[in-house]
Amino acid sequence: MYSNLDKTKIGAGLSDLDELARQKTYIEEAKDLVAKIAEEKGSPLTCHVATFGCQMNARDSEKLLGILIEAGYQPVETEDADLVVYNTCTVRDNANQKVYGRLGVLNGKKKKNPLMKIALCGCMTQEPSAVEKIKTSYPFVDLIFGTHNIFTFAELLCKMLKADKRIESIWQDTTQIVEDLPIERKFKYKTGVNIMFGCNNFCSYCIVPYVRGRERSRAPEEIIEEIKKQVADGVIEVMLLGQNVNSYGKNLDNPISFAELLRRVEEIEGLQRIRFMTSHPKDLSDELIEVMKHSKKICRHLHLPLQSGSTRILKAMNRKYTKEQYLELALKIRREIPDIAITTDIIVGFPGETKEDIDETLDVIRKVKYDNAFTFQYSKRTGTPAAAMENQCSAEFVKEQFDRVLSEVQLNARNQVALWEGKIMDALVEEMNEHDSTLVTGRLSNNTIVHFPGDESLIGKIVPVRLCACKGFYYIGELV
Ligand code: 5AD
Ligand code: SF4
Repeated sequence: MYSNLDKTKIGAGLSDLDELARQKTYIEEAKDLVAKIAEEKGSPLTCHVATFGCQMNARDSEKLLGILIEAGYQPVETEDADLVVYNTCTVRDNANQKVYGRLGVLNGKKKKNPLMKIALCGCMTQEPSAVEKIKTSYPFVDLIFGTHNIFTFAELLCKMLKADKRIESIWQDTTQIVEDLPIERKFKYKTGVNIMFGCNNFCSYCIVPYVRGRERSRAPEEIIEEIKKQVADGVIEVMLLGQNVNSYGKNLDNPISFAELLRRVEEIEGLQRIRFMTSHPKDLSDELIEVMKHSKKICRHLHLPLQSGSTRILKAMNRKYTKEQYLELALKIRREIPDIAITTDIIVGFPGETKEDIDETLDVIRKVKYDNAFTFQYSKRTGTPAAAMENQCSAEFVKEQFDRVLSEVQLNARNQVALWEGKIMDALVEEMNEHDSTLVTGRLSNNTIVHFPGDESLIGKIVPVRLCACKGFYYIGELV
């Protein structure tokens, strides 16, 4: 089903640098177009980019917003804007349903604002069946583009502003990596950096390899250069992003390991914290554990998706590790880096899963003592091998087992997070507390949140905080 995308392009045939130059000319054209429409309107054009899904999408949204601001749009917090972009996710069906629901609301807004344009991008648009549904049920969408050609956004924006019909540009895959276009960071002091795109693992339940394409790593020099620029611009914490960072660099002309990349990032002066996401257990090396153990900057947090604790289900999921191998790895990490927080993803209700398989998952949760775990009900994704499996679980069974997993996760996480009560730890202050303006919200190296009395001047700073009281998944603390 994924071979019949409307436009089966895999790049315009230009070098990455030529493509960059081409897109920059479109930004200039977009500036003129936006200025002209704003003049007719009598006020600046406004835009809103809504992000669904993961950190990758959050980073992509910063790129979209960077181009829109450069073109002259004014970002606003609500969807009452002249351009609304939905950067969508399709990893589970409820992500798609959320977008359909919100598109209905946008239609109402569009009827009241004749200037309003609606654009859709992200993983959902790489799914032909979703695009068909949008075209028939939501014909008021003005622009649809995919994950592979997000760097052509300026070009597509110009086309959309000039056309009176819907613009569609969805590529099947790409070999191009075009970076260095304008970016508007959500936080001044922290940001994501793409180190690789796509995924080659084809876990049998997962749609990501189909919508994000094959694995492509960026050259280490380019990554280092980008981070240096960000640090010069006030960033002190970076999150290195990839679907499977542990296989970073393997397919480069000059192969390099992820651990080696981390060593080089560590050397960047002024950078204080390094995070990364996501690690596949099958590729996590001893070299990485060593680098983490001795690092002063790599945060004490590892997200290590388990998916299932049953070797039988793991095999059907095509995860390429057994329960025992996973446990050995997780416990080795806990032994080598005792203050690390380990978090995970768990899927409940994979085809053929039984209560006994879930018992195995509960056993892993008890043994690893996750600091947190994202638990998902299995969602059938058309086109994946698991969707064609005959032994799909009943909704009732999934709900029942999901609750068992969730309570075990919560019990363990509560104990694990509370281990640090009374200790003093460094927190990066991220923002004012949403509910209480006398408090600020910070993040510890191990990714736990701490709220403590403070003011705006602390935002973006790393400060020592006493962890006074553990409230389940977060702390109440005080500055020391
Ligand atoms: N159903 C439920 N959860 C899924 N994930 C990926 N695909 C599915 C699916 N079809 C979960 C995995 C992954 C996380 C990002 O989303 O746990 O690690
Ligand atoms: Fe999906 Fe597996 Fe790739 Fe993660 S590693 S994106 S779960 S296919």
